[in-house]
Amino acid sequence: MSLVSMRQILDEASKDGYGVGAFNVNNMEQIQAIMEAAKETKSPVIIQASRGARSYTNDRFLYHLMMAATELYPEIPVALHQDHGNSPETCKSAIDMGFTSVMIDGSLEADGKTPASFEYNVRVTREVVEMAHERGVTVEGELGCLGGIEDGHGAGVDAMAHLTNPDQAVEFVKSTGVDALAVAIGTSHGAYKFSRKPDSAILAMDRIIEIHKRLPKTYLVMHGSSSVPKELQDIINAYGGQLEPTWGVPIEEIQLGIQHGVRKINVDTDSRLAITGVIRKYLTEHPEGFDPRSYLKPAREAMKKVIIERMRSFAQAGHASDYDPIPLSVMAQRYSNGEL
Ligand code: G3H
Ligand code: 13P
Ligand code: ZN
Repeated sequence: MSLVSMRQILDEASKDGYGVGAFNVNNMEQIQAIMEAAKETKSPVIIQASRGARSYTNDRFLYHLMMAATELYPEIPVALHQDHGNSPETCKSAIDMGFTSVMIDGSLEADGKTPASFEYNVRVTREVVEMAHERGVTVEGELGCLGGIEDGHGAGVDAMAHLTNPDQAVEFVKSTGVDALAVAIGTSHGAYKFSRKPDSAILAMDRIIEIHKRLPKTYLVMHGSSSVPKELQDIINAYGGQLEPTWGVPIEEIQLGIQHGVRKINVDTDSRLAITGVIRKYLTEHPEGFDPRSYLKPAREAMKKVIIERMRSFAQAGHASDYDPIPLSVMAQRYSNGEL
C-alpha cells in the first residue's frame, strides 16, 4: 500500500469513533517498531517526523525507509506527517519529499519559540492549506501554545498560559480550512509535563469538550500526549538514570478526548523512555558488550510494546483493513470540488 493521506485515516477514525496514534521517528528501528506494532494489532497509523528528525535522518534516508515500510507492510494504511512545521517553506519541502500530511504550527513564529499573533497564524496556515490541498495533502494547524520545551519546537511558556480559546478556534478553522486542529490544554512536550497526577486544574479536558461542541466536524489533535509511565521511568533510574519524578497524560484522559472529537494523539516521549531504559539496562548488565544490535534489538521490542499498548488504548487496533487507500490526486480533486 502506498502512503495514504492523514485526512483519509482520520475520516475513517471519525466514522468509528476511535483515535489514531501519531508516533515520532528518527531512525530505522523506530519505524520498524511502529510497523511491527501496527501489523500485530492490525492498526492504521501515522508516522511523523519533526524538523529535527528530518535533519538528523536526512530526508532521503527517511523517505526510503518509509518506502520500505509501505513495501513490507502493504496491509497497513500509513500516513507520513510533518510534525510542527515552522513555516510554509518547511511544509513545502515535506510535501515535495512525499509527506502525505503536514502540520503548520503558526501558534509560534518561524523561530519555533515566540508565541505568534492570531493574524500571523491564520495567514501562514491558510497559505499552507492552499498549497497542500492542491496536492491532496492533509493539513494540521495549531491554536494556543503548548507548555515549555528545553530544545526544539516550543514556547517555553507555562502550560496553562496559552490554552486554546474556543471562540477563536471556530474563527481559525473557518478562515484557514485546516483538516485537523491541535489544541493547547495544558500539556507540554517531553517527560516533564506535570509534577503530580493531573486533574482538571492542570489538564483542561473541558476545553476539548467545548471546542468539539462548536466544531464537531474538525478533527482535534492532542500534542504532548505521552503518558510517561512510572515503570519506564523506574527502569531508567534503576540503571543509572536521573529522571525527576514526573507525570504524563493518563490514558483515561486521552480516551475521554477521543469520545469528544480527538482523532490524532501525538506520542514521542514514551518511545524515547522505553528505548533508553532498555539500553541503560543492557549496558549496565553487560559492560563487556559492544555490538549495537544486542541493545538496539531489545530497545526496538520495548518501543513496539509501548506502541501496541497505545494502539489498543486509542482503539485504532483492528481497523487496518477497513478501507482501500485513496490516491492523493483524488483527494486533491475532492478538496477542489468542495467535497472535503
Ligand atoms: O515536537 C516534539 C516532538 O517530540 C519532536 O521532538 O523536535 O526533539 O524531534 P524533536
Ligand atoms: P510527547 O513529548 O508527550 O511524546 O509529545 C509528542 C508531540 O506532541 C509531538 O508533536
Ligand atoms: Zn507536538
